[in-house]
Amino acid sequence: MLTDKPNVSAAPSNSALWDMVDDHLLHYGRDFVREFIARASGSYLYTAEGRAILDFSSGQMCATLGHNHPTILEAIKRASDSVLHLDSTMLTPSIAHLAKELCELLPSQLNKVMFLNTGAESNEAALRLAKLYTGRFEVVGLTGSWHGTTSGAASSTYANGRKGYGPAMAGGLAIPAPNCYRCPLGKDKSTCGLACLDFGFEYLDAVSVGSIAAVILEPIQSAGGIIVLPDGYLKKLRIWCDEHGILLIFDEAQTGLGRVGAHFGFEIDEVVPDIVSLSKTLGAGVPLAATATSDEIALVTKERGFSHFTSHVSDPLTVEVGLSVVRTLVTDGLAARADEMGQYLMAGLKSLQDRHEAIGDVRGRGLLIGVEIVKDRETREPDKERMGKISDRCFQRGLNINRVGGPLAVWRIAPPLTISKDEVDLALEILDEAFTTV
Ligand SMILES: Cc1ncc(COP(=O)(O)O)c(C=O)c1O
Repeated sequence: MLTDKPNVSAAPSNSALWDMVDDHLLHYGRDFVREFIARASGSYLYTAEGRAILDFSSGQMCATLGHNHPTILEAIKRASDSVLHLDSTMLTPSIAHLAKELCELLPSQLNKVMFLNTGAESNEAALRLAKLYTGRFEVVGLTGSWHGTTSGAASSTYANGRKGYGPAMAGGLAIPAPNCYRCPLGKDKSTCGLACLDFGFEYLDAVSVGSIAAVILEPIQSAGGIIVLPDGYLKKLRIWCDEHGILLIFDEAQTGLGRVGAHFGFEIDEVVPDIVSLSKTLGAGVPLAATATSDEIALVTKERGFSHFTSHVSDPLTVEVGLSVVRTLVTDGLAARADEMGQYLMAGLKSLQDRHEAIGDVRGRGLLIGVEIVKDRETREPDKERMGKISDRCFQRGLNINRVGGPLAVWRIAPPLTISKDEVDLALEILDEAFTTV
């Protein structure tokens, strides 16, 4: 007997696909971009309709080598041809190479590393190491920081997402981020003498129960609005931590591995942390993260039974990619390239600022640049509405830029480190036109 069978081979229409998304995909943050992406290559994304979009957010800040870089595809193929996943106590030779080569890039004090998957996870490992090593439990973060959405990392995340989930972990403390464009103390950067940090120390002295294990921070606050720490900030903080037996953790999820024109954000300030957390840029598009620390901290925490066993710790697939990423970063000189292209892009953005009143501030390092949109340069009132309209116009014309900064109106301009001058020129031209038209 003939039955009416559904035609399973017919591809669903675009609107049917969006219906499936709306019906079944859990909303986890901002609204989805309503165009499907079919493929990506280098600095470009291509929509299902074939529209090319310059990606000035490097995916979710991970695709530093550009999308689908051949070296990453080869590494995935190598892992597919050999082994993808193992018992967490088993290793492939590539992890030995990656551990050695990554530690060689890091300052000699940071000589032990473990490989995880996400930024939140590598921060959890960092915090657990710090707590076990110091025997303390309080953790200091900076307002405006973002360290991830797992409990420990989220407890030190102040950029957003704190409300509605009940108590954060006990011992979470925050000091004001040094936002020099909007000084929390109303001071001027040229004469403040890092007053916000002195205020932070006094505040911590008053509120801490005397058990601070670590300070965790991003060398440039990204989600918080591309807040570049002022000169001398990290050095002063390092001294205070040393005086109080507190560990310093740098979360280099976005600043690590070339983006800021150096291999690590902390290199520019010549301050070495006790623990560094790497993620996004290490996998350059696959989920690989790392937590690195000193021989001393590794030894003491091992003796105390440090346990951070996860399903995908040391996984061959992601490690194989990470090895290729680190090697490409070094052989292609991508940190120097980020410095050079960053200066070119920064000059272009400053020239846009000269022409468009709405650009209140342009700041950043290397290819991590913030552009702040204001209603008026005197009052510095954020202009989210205008930023939204200009972003939409840019997207229509083929330029994708992330919006960050919570209540502020800040674009995070962060193309792949492989971006060309022509691509930068095109982005600047699109932005210029959008500012003029909107
Ligand atoms: C500085 C920083 N740390 C940690 C994280 C969390 O990383 P993940 O989303 O991979 O857990 C992020 C994510 O945006 C980040 O920007």
